[in-house]
Amino acid sequence: MKKPWSGRFKQSTDRLMEAFSASIAYDSKLYAHDIAGSIAHAKMLAHTGIIRPGEANKIVSGLEKIRKEFETGRFEFRQSLEDIHMNIESRLAELIGPVAGKLHTARSRNDQVCLDIRLYLRAEVGEIRAAILELEKTLLDLAVKHIDFIVPGYTHLQRAQPVSLAHHLLAHLEMLERDRGRLADALKRIDVMPLGSAALAGTNFPIDRAYTAKLLGFAKISNNSIDAVSDRDFLIEFTAAAAALMMHLSRFAEEVVLWSSSEFGFIELSDAFSTGSSIMPQKKNPDPAELVRGKTGRVYGNLVSLLTMMKSLPLAYNRDLQEDKEPLFDTVDTVKMCLAVFTGMLQTATFKQVPLDKLRQSGFLTATDMADYLVGKGLPFREAHGVTGRTVAYCLEENKHLEQITLGELRKISSRFEKDIFDYIALEKSVDRKDVLGGTSRKRIRQQIARLRRALVK
Ligand code: ARG
Repeated sequence: MKKPWSGRFKQSTDRLMEAFSASIAYDSKLYAHDIAGSIAHAKMLAHTGIIRPGEANKIVSGLEKIRKEFETGRFEFRQSLEDIHMNIESRLAELIGPVAGKLHTARSRNDQVCLDIRLYLRAEVGEIRAAILELEKTLLDLAVKHIDFIVPGYTHLQRAQPVSLAHHLLAHLEMLERDRGRLADALKRIDVMPLGSAALAGTNFPIDRAYTAKLLGFAKISNNSIDAVSDRDFLIEFTAAAAALMMHLSRFAEEVVLWSSSEFGFIELSDAFSTGSSIMPQKKNPDPAELVRGKTGRVYGNLVSLLTMMKSLPLAYNRDLQEDKEPLFDTVDTVKMCLAVFTGMLQTATFKQVPLDKLRQSGFLTATDMADYLVGKGLPFREAHGVTGRTVAYCLEENKHLEQITLGELRKISSRFEKDIFDYIALEKSVDRKDVLGGTSRKRIRQQIARLRRALVK
């Protein structure tokens, strides 16, 4: 197949070189965006009188035909034509003849490839944001159902203080909401039209960039042609936001793995979102959470690949930039899959309330409340902390939990203790006393849920 750029070449491309430089195996994903961009460009060329309207019509209907060929799986890919852009251009020439050659007026593959990935990413970011929203709504529904579930909150993975399960789930929701916001910010810098930069300098033709941008629905037009063809920070920013999102999913996944162990026993995944063991018949494993945790590494790797690929590139376009696509596509596919699976996994999971007696028996969850109680009785907090610490030490020696020791025993440690201490350190009381903005009291959680119901919109 004759290459569109072969005019100055005397020898044909080595087969090895052809295979090495081809990107068609993966950038075929961009076909719809490439065609949309070409249609807009052809219309602009006619609008500005650079080509005739009849010529533009021929080009547009040829491109529409090619779109059908893709949609019906009839398009014949040729590796010798390197990438999606030249594959489409050559096919257009086969279909409509020499007039196809006018489409590339005032355009280079350099601004074309940039346009395509911007169009692609704009659409995908929309989908990813919608998928995050879906997960957030799932968490909100779960929070509503589990306000009264008391779970141990942890620091250092040691039992710390009692919290409502709803509060814990809403903590994850907050992270996801920031991820959604980060993607919305990234979108501002994705939604910029590079067409008209041509190879790097701009073009000799009197094009109308605003017209093309309007046809393609871009919010902005790039200001500098050299920057426009060599900038990839919009996709690095996207991948960084995706990496942060995966980091959040991975932390949550880690908890799901821990929580589904018999040691924790806070959650049971549905059979539909679990897998078994080929040897141990009793096993039911939280593989979806483990895979999300594992796939986080790929997305981090993609971010590092992109940053490294860019770091020493002189302006403007360099072929290295072709290496942007696989990490980008892999990031998009991984993130979408992980979000969908995570949502399904949570929607079908069952949370299990650990019996309150069991919670009372381990971890001294309300020790901080005891110290706060003593502050209420006039002790400075540091002294109250010391007294409570000695009480915990006493309990450990006597093999008792906090609510099991008698007032007499307590008063031997500090005369500030009175009989209202037992009510003060009850688990539910502890939770509801965290009545500050952002605290775990059930009243505050209900307020947060009401706020989120209003906030969680597209
Ligand atoms: N397939 C190339 C890429 O993805 C398209 C741009 C090629 N431009 C060039 N001057 N060789 O980057």
